[in-house]
Order: sequence, then C-alpha cells, then structure tokens
Amino acid sequence: MSAVVSAGNGKITVPSILERKSSVASQKPSSTKITCLTAYDYPTARLLDEAGVDILLVGDSLAMVVLGYESTLPVTLEEMLHHTRAVRRGTRRALLVSDMPYGSYHDDPMAAVRNAVRFVKEAGAEAVKIEGGERRMDLVARLVDAEIPVMGHIGLTPQSVNTFGGFRVQGKTEQAGDRVMRDARAVEAAGAFAIVLESIPRELGARITAELRIPTIGIGAGPDCDGQVLVINDLLGLSFGHAPKFTRRYADVGEIISRAAAQYCRDVQQGSFPSDEESYHMPMEHRDAPVAKHG
Ligand code: KIV
Repeated sequence: MSAVVSAGNGKITVPSILERKSSVASQKPSSTKITCLTAYDYPTARLLDEAGVDILLVGDSLAMVVLGYESTLPVTLEEMLHHTRAVRRGTRRALLVSDMPYGSYHDDPMAAVRNAVRFVKEAGAEAVKIEGGERRMDLVARLVDAEIPVMGHIGLTPQSVNTFGGFRVQGKTEQAGDRVMRDARAVEAAGAFAIVLESIPRELGARITAELRIPTIGIGAGPDCDGQVLVINDLLGLSFGHAPKFTRRYADVGEIISRAAAQYCRDVQQGSFPSDEESYHMPMEHRDAPVAKHG
C-alpha cells in the first residue's frame, strides 16, 4: 500500500527528515526547511505531493475543517483511518503521517499500540503523531519499539482544549516556557523523529529548535523552526470563522467555489446549461422514429 521506499528515488522518509535538521554549525540554507501541510482526501494529497510538499499530515483538524465539529475531540479512529487511506492513494513522494485521534491512545497502552499499528497496516501511514510531552514518554517509546515512527506535538495541543480552557498560546511566561521545554526534551528522549510546536512564542520555538537534535515543525512557533506546517484549508481560504494570527491565505478557493456554484445555478435556471454540445444525441436515422409508449 505504501510508496516504494528506496534510497535515491526522491521519496521522503523518516531518516531523510531527520537529516534535514538544521544546525548552526552546518549553516544550512532555509531552502532545506521541511514543508508540511495537512491533507484529508485523494485529490488534495495528489496536488500537494506533486507540488513537492515533504510531509502530508492527516491531521485530526479533519474534525473541524472538513467534518464541521467545534473541536478535534469528536473525530473517530475509523474516520481517521478512512481519510488516511484516501491520502495514501494520492501520495507517492511525501512522508505520510497520521494523527492519532483523541481517545485512541489515552487508556490501555497496548490498545494504543494496536491502534497505531492499524494506521500503518490498514491505511498506509508511515508515522503517527501523538499530542503531549512528558506524560506521553512511555507511549512514544512503546510505539518506536513497535517500529512505528512518532512525530510529537507540544505547546497548544488541541486535544487538551478543555484542560487549557480554549485554544490559547502556550509557554508565554518563563515557568510555562520551561514546561514546554521539558515536554520537548521528553518527546525527543522517548525516540520521536520530529516534533510539532504549536502556538508558542517565537523565542521559545527558537530555543527548542536550537537545543533538540530532532527537527521542529512549527505552526505559530515562529520562523526559526526546522520546518513549518499549516492546515491546508487555512492556506486555501477554505475555512470559516476566526483565522489564527499564524495562518497565511495563499488563495481564496472558497470564493472561487462560491462564484462557480452561483454561476451554475444561474445557467441551469436560465436554460443555458446544458447546451446542445453538452448533450448526447440519437443517431440521425432514429431521430424521427416514434417513441414507444409505455403501459
Ligand atoms: O491536526 C492538525 O492539523 C495538526 C496540525 C495543526 C499540526 O495537528
């Protein structure tokens, strides 16, 4: 099910992502920064993969931007697997990472490993993403032991929305920053190959990036991270409501869809769609034959 992984064919792999860790010593240019976008379906995955995005993340943001929920909490394991399979079919070069949804890794650790195995075995994911720092150390280590590469996710972890009391920037004070730093160290020590830093001050993002040996992928964590991730719907102008400060809209696909749909309605109502050229025709010799009456 997964794309052919062989050295030199351009396929992005976990080791190749690790190699892209920027270091002050090597002074790597910013062109080697890691690019990551979310994808939830086949056509989007194909387009993003062909555009050269390094990592496609089937994020549990699926719950909010595609399924219309208020938070990421309701999305199920089966829904995440379903969308991962679709993204797998559209992905050849990029590394495919899937989010483990809320409730799929929160009680029995063996059940968590079994759920993660399903992403790899049934849906073709090449790694899973887990939210949380110090408290997820054991689980990250177990998954890595089961040959499942893990991407960590700390800072504003949306599955903790009820604990945080909203989607709030994390690590803004010295004490809170130290807590996020400890989370980052724990995730690295447990064996994760990369870590998402979400909604933290730029200065903290830079500090974590400088200290860790694994790549940091920022979303609202400033430009000093080793890579960046955005939710594709935010980038395309296909999301509703308040857009966080860290998003950048590169296109207004929502506007294009609205205009196209309104034009279609006008054309149908005015009788200009479908045209004769857009219609099938009977062969000439059958056109004048009487149509058989039913009943
Ligand atoms: O679910 C998601 O889309 C994510 C990214 C925002 C990192 O976790």
